[in-house]
Amino acid sequence: RGCKLVGCGSAVPTLQISNDDLAKIVDTSDEWISVRTGIRNRRVLSGKESLTGLAVEAASRALQMAEVNPEDVDLVLMCTSTPEDLFGGATQIPKALGCKNNPLAYDITAACSGFLLGLVSAACHIRGGGFRNVLVIGGDALSRFTDWTDRGSCILFGDAAGAVLVQACDSEDDGLISFDVHSDGEGGRHLNACIKGNQTNDALGSNGSVLAFPPQHYSYSSIYMNGKEVFRFAVRVVPQTIESALEKAGLTMSSIDWLLLHQANQRIIDAVANRLDVPMERVISNLANYGNTSAASIPLALDEAVRSGKVKPGHTIAAAGFGAGLTWGSAILRW
Ligand code: ACO
Repeated sequence: RGCKLVGCGSAVPTLQISNDDLAKIVDTSDEWISVRTGIRNRRVLSGKESLTGLAVEAASRALQMAEVNPEDVDLVLMCTSTPEDLFGGATQIPKALGCKNNPLAYDITAACSGFLLGLVSAACHIRGGGFRNVLVIGGDALSRFTDWTDRGSCILFGDAAGAVLVQACDSEDDGLISFDVHSDGEGGRHLNACIKGNQTNDALGSNGSVLAFPPQHYSYSSIYMNGKEVFRFAVRVVPQTIESALEKAGLTMSSIDWLLLHQANQRIIDAVANRLDVPMERVISNLANYGNTSAASIPLALDEAVRSGKVKPGHTIAAAGFGAGLTWGSAILRW
């Protein structure tokens, strides 16, 4: 049994924040941000908008493109590190889409690798679990956890959601050709948004005795990032993981139509393309308009590339995600 990508969609908030806008709140400039990152604009949730709303809009567009009814969806995977409910927001999506069949829905948390891991999970559910139509949504609202006084990180992030519909098919039509996925908790110290205060439950002593009760009400810190370390990590692991996925597929980069990386920094994208010897006209990038939208960045860029006619039916794509955890991985896909 195979699985193929049959629809995609995306949605972004209406509020645009330019580099010049940011220069009014932190000591930075359009030139610094553009040269160091390639980012010019980002979208940020405001007013009555919600991440769940963006996810529903993106998913609905993916269903329309696939010509699949909401009640034929049997699994919804919401890949996000910024859910609007600590217990997971995924179940609100089939409700809003009008899926009357009560499909399974749950969240996957893996920061900027989330969507890639969602694709791996969809493939496992279809191949081993008998599921037929799986909505994989990547969505994040990192603006809510950004330290807007930290010029080293607040210039990078934007909010968005993107979705694909993965459908069961005959094995000869398989569109999720190979995967390669990893994590390294040791490197997690370079990029995180931890619970405030002690990271363990400090209401309990080491022998389990109660030190303080009731425990305090916890909240999360803003995003902490060591940009240089994350940059080095990405440029090292992304070419490796793509080469591993290509090897598993029995392919080489020269037979792949498009390179589609998590949109974190244009310099990372350029360095990886250079290392893999991929010319820039075969690299998908829309980072300039949206910044780093975390789990949304790959499906958002894919959706734009499909709708603009760049990515055509039958094209192969080497996609890779990387980010907090640390987590990273790649997939060889056929559209
Ligand atoms: N405007 C002006 N100057 C700045 C800014 C800014 N926005 N930010 C930092 N600087 C200054 C620094 O203070 C430093 O000044 P100094 O030399 O006087 O000390 C100088 O610029 C250089 O700073 P660096 O941090 O060394 O700059 P670098 O070239 O590494 O670029 C950046 C920083 C853009 C963050 C880069 O390291 C990067 O993109 N890293 C990867 C980040 C990334 O991909 N993160 C997301 C991962 S995905 C996820 O899971 C969320």
